[in-house]
Amino acid sequence: MSALPMPPQDVPAWCQYILQLSGVVLDANKSYLFESRLSPILHRLGCGYAELLARSKLEPKLQAEVIDVMTTHETSFFRDSTPFTLLRQFLLPQLLSSHGKLRIWSAACSTGQEPYSISFILHDSQQDVSGCQILATDISAHALAVAQAAEYSDFEIHRGLDPHAVHRYFEKTPQQHWRVRPPYQKDLSFKQLNLIEDFRSVVPPQHLVFCRNVAIYFSLETRRILYDRLADCLLPGGILVISSTESLVGISERFIQEDHQGVKYYRKIR
Ligand SMILES: C[S@@+](CC[C@H](N)C(=O)[O-])C[C@H]1O[C@@H](n2cnc3c(N)ncnc32)[C@H](O)[C@@H]1O
Repeated sequence: MSALPMPPQDVPAWCQYILQLSGVVLDANKSYLFESRLSPILHRLGCGYAELLARSKLEPKLQAEVIDVMTTHETSFFRDSTPFTLLRQFLLPQLLSSHGKLRIWSAACSTGQEPYSISFILHDSQQDVSGCQILATDISAHALAVAQAAEYSDFEIHRGLDPHAVHRYFEKTPQQHWRVRPPYQKDLSFKQLNLIEDFRSVVPPQHLVFCRNVAIYFSLETRRILYDRLADCLLPGGILVISSTESLVGISERFIQEDHQGVKYYRKIR
C-alpha cells in the first residue's frame, strides 16, 4: 500500500491537531510521518487528508486511531538497562526500607514492557513487596490493550531478555505467544491517561515515577508543565527516572539530580 502525499496546505492543520491532542510536536519536515502512518486509514476509508482530519474531530474512535498511529511506541524489556540496574541495586532497596508498600508509576508505558520490567525486578528482590502497586498509563488505547493482554511475540521477547529470563517471566500460550506469568501481572493496573492534561487528581501519590522517552516529543513549555505536575504527584523525596537523553536542567527546579554509579535520576525537593 503506497503512502499518499499530504497536500502542503494540509500539513499545518494536521501538526496543530496532533499537538493539541497529544502535545507531540511535528512540523512540516515530518510530513512523511503523516503519509506513512495515516495512509492505511486513508486507504481503508477511501478519503483524503482534509476529510480524515474533519472526521477525526467528530468521531472519537477515529481520533483514538489517529493518536495511536501518530505516536511512537518504540520500547523493549529492560530498555537501556541502566535505569533497571539502578532500580534493582539502589532505588528499590532504599525505597522499600524507608516506605514499605511502594507506589510506582510507569507514565507513557507504551505496550507494557517498561512496567513489566519493573514488576520483574520488584518480585525478584528478596524483600517483602506485598502491597506494592505499579500503575501503567499511556495515551494510546491500543498500546494499553496490548500491555494489558500481557502477551508478546518471539521478536518482542528476545529484545532485552536472555533465554533464562524469558522462561522465568513468561509462559507459552497455545497460540505460541509469550504471556507474562501471573505473579508478575497481579500488582499492575492500567489506565488511559494523557500527560498533557491535568492528571493530578486521578493519580495517587507515588514513591517512584518512570517517565521515559515521551517528553522528548513535547515542547519545552509542555515539558515544564509536565514535570511540575509529576512533582505534585510524587511524595516528598520521591524519585523521577527519565531517559539518559533527557534532562531537567533548566526545566524544573523542583528536583535535584542525583547519581548512583554514573546513572542519573531525580529526587523531588519541593
Ligand atoms: C517511545 S514510547 C516510550 C515507552 C517507554 N516509556 C519506554 O521508554 O520504553 C512513547 C509513548 O508515549 C506515549 N505518549 C505520547 N504522547 C503522550 C501523551 N500526551 N500522554 C501520554 N502518553 C503519550 C505514546 O503513546 C507511546 O506509547
